[in-house]
Amino acid sequence: MYNKNPFKLGVFSPNCGGGMAITTVSERWDASWENNLSLAKMLDEAGIEFILPIARWIGYGGKTDFQGSNLETITWCSGLLASTKNISVFATAHTSFHHPIVAAKMFSTMDHISKGRFGLNVVCGWNAQEYEMFNIELSNKHEIRYEYGQEWFDIIKRIWTDDKPFDWHGKYFTLNNVHGNPKPYNQKIPPIMNAGSSNEGQEFAARNANYLFTVLVDLDTGAENVKSIKQRAAKHGRDVGVFTTSYVVCRPTQSEAEEYHEFYSNEKADWPAVDQLMNLQGLHAKSFPPEAFSQFRNRFAAGHGVYPLVGTPDYIADEMERIYKAGYEGTTITFVNYLDEFPYFRDEVLPRLEAKGMRSIPNI
Ligand SMILES: Cc1cc2nc3c(=O)[nH]c(=O)nc-3n(C[C@H](O)[C@H](O)[C@H](O)COP(=O)(O)O)c2cc1C
Repeated sequence: MYNKNPFKLGVFSPNCGGGMAITTVSERWDASWENNLSLAKMLDEAGIEFILPIARWIGYGGKTDFQGSNLETITWCSGLLASTKNISVFATAHTSFHHPIVAAKMFSTMDHISKGRFGLNVVCGWNAQEYEMFNIELSNKHEIRYEYGQEWFDIIKRIWTDDKPFDWHGKYFTLNNVHGNPKPYNQKIPPIMNAGSSNEGQEFAARNANYLFTVLVDLDTGAENVKSIKQRAAKHGRDVGVFTTSYVVCRPTQSEAEEYHEFYSNEKADWPAVDQLMNLQGLHAKSFPPEAFSQFRNRFAAGHGVYPLVGTPDYIADEMERIYKAGYEGTTITFVNYLDEFPYFRDEVLPRLEAKGMRSIPNI
């Protein structure tokens, strides 16, 4: 994550069945361990900066039960970190589902396994069905979700940085004689990301995160969004790198890309799963602006509602350059079938980004 590339790339959601494409096509992503391992090694060799999983506990139903089969992100992350050399791998943790003392030690352990390549995505909650399964209340107040998340993260940070045992008497946790070793690798706090879009979520990121991931609806509003996040972070005396998230259909011609896009995300979409995802997101999260729900049903089918990059290698490299110029430090990418489609992206798009001065390709 800390290399010199001005525009960083991460691959998102390969631990989840279907990845980010809510489709019934036969080549849709099978999130087996073998597929994840092969993909991680391929991404590592290509110089991709990071892999980001989705922590999901219940799928979205429909014909495919989209994301219903998914590898748990902390154990998945450990396995990938042990099997790769340079790439950063994030784990995604719901603050309510992992006790902070256990979490602090698991995260430190992964940082040691990888000699400092571990990253943490903090999720303060939105998916009510998952919280019901745990019989944990998901507050309908964002203030409370993020206040809890702040206390959870403060405890973890204190364990990571304090050499002396401490007692904790907070609003949500009472803990006695707390200590934890080892500290993270080289005593350095791992990169923290958050992806809240609400006011409270973005304040949380401004106070605590190195990276804030936001949904990009269009480039003009995106550029405004980046500016306002940077201003928020500056008020806390901090800098936060702003990333977005996109899906890729890259083919030699524009019409081939558009035809495949139409096929998997319209003709073969898993519409009941699309509607279930959109309903749940609309009820409890603020990731997407209200107008996105009426305009972007197809964008949800194609890539979970994130930004489309559909076209030739030239088109995709140019569009990434526009994202970069709007102020983003990087984007996540996804494919219908990551293993089948990433090699073409690697061979055709990465050299174009290098030619634009946005990234360099590692010498292997
Ligand atoms: C890039 C990205 C990754 C996310 N990863 C997860 C995840 O793994 N699990 C999850 O439950 N929510 C995930 N979310 C949802 C957010 O963490 C957040 O909970 C959601 O945006 C609702 O918060 P808000 O209402 O404050 O915006 C992700 C969102 C984005 C944009």
